[in-house]
Formats: sequence, structure tokens, C-alpha cells
Amino acid sequence: VAGIEVMETDRLVIRRLRDADAPFIVSLLNDADFLRYIGDRGVRGEADAVRYIAQGPPSTHERLGFGMDVVTLRATGEPLGICGLLKREVLDHPDIGFAFLPAARRRGYAHESASAVLAHARARLGLRRILAITSLENAASIALLGKLGFVFQKVTRLGGSADQVRLFASDPA
Ligand SMILES: CC(C)(COP(=O)(O)OP(=O)(O)OC[C@H]1O[C@@H](n2cnc3c(N)ncnc32)[C@H](O)[C@@H]1OP(=O)(O)O)[C@@H](O)C(=O)NCCC(=O)NCCS
Repeated sequence: VAGIEVMETDRLVIRRLRDADAPFIVSLLNDADFLRYIGDRGVRGEADAVRYIAQGPPSTHERLGFGMDVVTLRATGEPLGICGLLKREVLDHPDIGFAFLPAARRRGYAHESASAVLAHARARLGLRRILAITSLENAASIALLGKLGFVFQKVTRLGGSADQVRLFASDPA
């Protein structure tokens, strides 16, 4: 997240990724839905995952004060998914992202962690407009964004990419 190392919710702990999360990252990044809806990050083994943890989304923490974090089960410490904020050159505002292991889905974990990330972004980081992008047919993500108060803006292409995406935005109430 940002400015703080750890965030807690009723059921979850959201913390920075570390090398020991490599096996979890290998599973998550090779899940069929991750590959289909987010993309292939080319992470196949634990060495790739350690590189990803060092150079990937988490490295934005140093640059921006926020990034992608791992969401773990408070009771056991088990990693369930990732959630956090990114800043892409092709978007004018930060965007929120999330991905969970198949076995951890439909239990409200993505909603619970994303709500905490959004509240933190507003209250502590002073971010007003927050964006989100999904592929055209990612029903789960689109429904989750609606539940989080995001409003569909348009179908667009990012930075000259061939793929169309849906752009969503959320402004403070
Ligand atoms: C999108 C994703 C993160 C949702 O995670 P999740 O933990 O299952 O979501 P939650 O349990 O918090 O669900 C919150 C809401 O999202 C919607 N939702 C979640 N999964 C859904 C599905 N398969 N179909 C329709 N709606 C769905 C529902 O509105 C749900 O609220 P409800 O349970 O009260 O009906 C998860 O499906 C995932 O990791 N997908 C693969 C990666 C991905 O696509 N990430 C998003 C890229 S933009």
C-alpha cells in the first residue's frame, strides 16, 4: 500500500511482497484467469518470481509511495492474492488492481482488500480520482468494480495497444 508497511482488515493482512512469496507468485501468475484477463508476465519458476517481486509492481513503492501488495489470511498468514495501486504512464491517475488464487475467490476477499486500499488512498494519500481497467469480458472484475463504486467510462486502447479495455473511474463521494 503506501506509507505504512502493513494494513489489516477483519479477515486480512495486506503487506509488501517479499522473496518468500515466490511460490505463491508462480501459482498466481500462471493461473488461467490471470493469464487470460491480465496477461503473461513470463514468470514460470521461483527465480522468475523473485525477480518479479524485486522489479515488478512492488518497485513502484519507492517511486510513488504505493504499489501492489500481497493479501494474506490474517488467521494463518497464507497468501490469497494481490491488491493495490499502480501508476501507468498511459493513464492520468493511479489505477487499482487485484488478482486472487482460484481457491480464494467468491469469499469477499477482493472486495475487502480493495475497499481498504481505496480508503487508504483517499484518507492518507489524498488521491481523488482512481481508475481501473479490465478486459472487455472480465465479468467478475467488472461486477466487483461496480460494487466498489466505480463507474464505467469507455472502451479504449491504452498506449497504442491492439487490445481494447474497459476504463472505470471512482471519485470521492
Ligand atoms: C476479479 C477477482 C479479483 C474477484 O475476486 P473475488 O475475491 O472473487 O471477489 P469477491 O469475492 O470480493 O467478490 C466481490 C464481488 O465481485 C463480483 N464477482 C466476483 N466474482 C464474480 C464472478 N465470477 N461473476 C460475477 N460477479 C463476480 C460480485 O459482485 C461479488 O460480490 P458478491 O459476492 O456479493 O456477489 C477474481 O475473480 C480474480 O482474481 N480473477 C482473476 C484475475 C483478474 O481478472 N483480476 C482483475 C483484472 S482487471
